Amino acid sequence: MNSESKILIKTLKGTKQEKIPFWFMRQAGRYLPEYREVRAKHKNFLEFCYTPKAACEVTLQPIRRFGMDAAIIFSDILVVPHRLGMNVWFEEGHGPRMDALQDGAMLAKLSLDGFTKRLEPVYEALELTRAALPKETALIGFAGSPWTLACYMIEGKSSKEFEKVKAKAKEEKEFFAKLISLLEQAVLSHIDAQVKAGAEVIQLFDSWAGILPEDDYRQWVVEPTARIAKKFKALHPHVPLIGFARQSGAKFLAYGSECGLDAISVDRSVPLEWIRSKLQPRLVVQGCLNQELLASNKQAMLDDAKAVVDALGDKPFVFNLSHGILPATPVENMQALCDYLRQVKK
Ligand code: CP3
Repeated sequence: MNSESKILIKTLKGTKQEKIPFWFMRQAGRYLPEYREVRAKHKNFLEFCYTPKAACEVTLQPIRRFGMDAAIIFSDILVVPHRLGMNVWFEEGHGPRMDALQDGAMLAKLSLDGFTKRLEPVYEALELTRAALPKETALIGFAGSPWTLACYMIEGKSSKEFEKVKAKAKEEKEFFAKLISLLEQAVLSHIDAQVKAGAEVIQLFDSWAGILPEDDYRQWVVEPTARIAKKFKALHPHVPLIGFARQSGAKFLAYGSECGLDAISVDRSVPLEWIRSKLQPRLVVQGCLNQELLASNKQAMLDDAKAVVDALGDKPFVFNLSHGILPATPVENMQALCDYLRQVKK
């Protein structure tokens, strides 16, 4: 089966299907016992990401169990700064860490020379996965967006408010613009190489987009994304591009109309009715079940899933969550959600 005939791809290109395609951010992860088993064999998280067989195996696990319409390659957004030359590591219970980027001298040490060569294991994992997936299942590649990557690179870790990166963006404009420009090039090379290795859809993750006020949002979220999208579309006009700009609220409108994306992944920072009336006339929408409900109350979760489908399912729509699956999610809840989604007809 070629990409063009898969229901996820047809939907992302704007043609509504009788069934609503579904997949979930972080569908490979700690809520699955078979994931934890493989994970336990790889102490170092990045080394795990760079082991093609292991990455392929955990990418396939949720597909075997639940039969989603797409697999997302198991990797991480932080492989980009890592392979640009930053020191990146993951600490148990603390998430990602890196030596924070402080100035132009540190930035000058990062290099695009041989960058995609150093990411070869990710592309190998995509090739292995494509060969092993059921023919009707689409394969999604991804990258972090420049703003969110810069958040981690400048802060050196996750943060609630990301004060350091906001200050740098305001006070050291030239340095910050240089960093964003380097990241644009790196992200474009990485998603181009993923498509060449078998990815049929690309999602850009801008998890920290929502923390920026409107003007800064335009400069550091919308404009870099639009530049990447334009160049990507020139290379791969037929490959759908989804943008995930978490917690954007009303700024989803600028993100959805000005970036040149095929689809926008939304959350509940805006009402379903607003998504239906403001965003769906402009582009394909993906989202937006509350992942906390999925992790807690099965009936409330199914009621919410139905509300999402009722509100958004009359237009081309991809069912997903508002953010990634939480590790505490009962497998039984995920099973119930997939059983519900498989029988929906619109
Ligand atoms: O969605 C998928 O199933 C594909 C795999 C994937 C991972 N990370 C694997 C992962 C994807 C798409 C990501 C993207 C990612 N990584 C984002 C953007 C999406 C989002 O969640 O906002 C971000 C911000 C990161 C950075 C990152 N990686 C953080 C903050 C953490 C720690 C959080 C945690 O859950 O511990 C990671 C680690 C990580 N990446 C895990 C997984 C499955 C958990 C590591 C483990 O198994 O111990």
